[in-house]
Amino acid sequence: MNINGKPYRTIWEKNTDTIEIIDQRHLPYQLVIEELKTLDDFAHAIRDMHVRGAPLIGATAAYGMYIAALQGVELQKAADELKDTRPTAVNLAYAVDKVLAAAFIAESNQQNQIILQTAREIVEESVEHCRLIGAHGVEIIRNISQKKEGKTVNILTHCNAGWIACIDYGTATAPIYAAHNEGINVHVWVDETRPRNQGARLTAYELKEHGVPHTVIVDNAGGHLMQHGMVDMVIVGTDRTTRTGDVANKIGTYLKALAAHDNQVPFYVALPSSTFDWSIRDGLKEIPIETRSADEVKYMEGWENGSIKSVLLTPLESPAINYGFDVTPAKYITGLITERGICAANEAAILALYPEQQ
Ligand code: MRU
Repeated sequence: MNINGKPYRTIWEKNTDTIEIIDQRHLPYQLVIEELKTLDDFAHAIRDMHVRGAPLIGATAAYGMYIAALQGVELQKAADELKDTRPTAVNLAYAVDKVLAAAFIAESNQQNQIILQTAREIVEESVEHCRLIGAHGVEIIRNISQKKEGKTVNILTHCNAGWIACIDYGTATAPIYAAHNEGINVHVWVDETRPRNQGARLTAYELKEHGVPHTVIVDNAGGHLMQHGMVDMVIVGTDRTTRTGDVANKIGTYLKALAAHDNQVPFYVALPSSTFDWSIRDGLKEIPIETRSADEVKYMEGWENGSIKSVLLTPLESPAINYGFDVTPAKYITGLITERGICAANEAAILALYPEQQ
């Protein structure tokens, strides 16, 4: 996708021993490119959210395994360190385990090359899966547009499940970009997504760069908009989805799903197969929910006089707690938009798309 008209991905190889990323902590104010050269750089970048979003976390970890291998770090140690950085997004384990499996069967003199090759495959697979999510998901938007006789389709999204959270296209945004590109009138309600404001900072930024009409709203506005017929559909991403269709996504997603259910607004979740956790059935009991620093709740960042400033919102002494994700039970989800097509959020329908996971 484009920044200032120039195509970018979120991660790329600078040379054989350096990976570059867009350091998302500076967006939307500054475009900062960061070099990652050691296993610690990768672990730090994922944990402190220089990169974030389930697919991008996975791709970054895969390259982290390559750099670790290049520097002679024991692969299992590197895998453990990377997997420990963020607990909810299953793409992390998916990518690290894929690299480990490829390395395990490689001849030792070819191991580094095989690991690099696997990291590249993970990146390209992610791009292609997001493109296909767009191709399938656009049909839903097209149908709504036809029913509305070409009037604007209003789509609400939460957090950033855009290209900045992936390598390209995004998951939740892929159908939106596809619709916009084919001339369908779309408008996106962007939840600001406290506490880190991924909606206000990142989703708004990438929609603006692509010219997609959008409006930033406070997290609590969605229910009101739905009650007044101002939302035609919701599309969100996910960090981990069970084989039964329970969806973990950014904190606040569940409340949007409840409001959508109460107002008969279709609620879709867009995901590549790397975000399914095929080993679990019960999202509420089995998906680990990341708790992050209370300071992310107590302080708010913004741009002032040429730099990012952080201000205290709460009484200094007040405790805060910061759950990063929540689980939306499958019963509130209208459909899952995957690279293989759209299905209902239940085990039979998911397995009909992914029969190899029976
Ligand atoms: O904590 P974050 O910013 O990594 O959380 C990201 C999300 O919740 C996204 O919605 C999810 O990863 C889907 S990304 C395509």
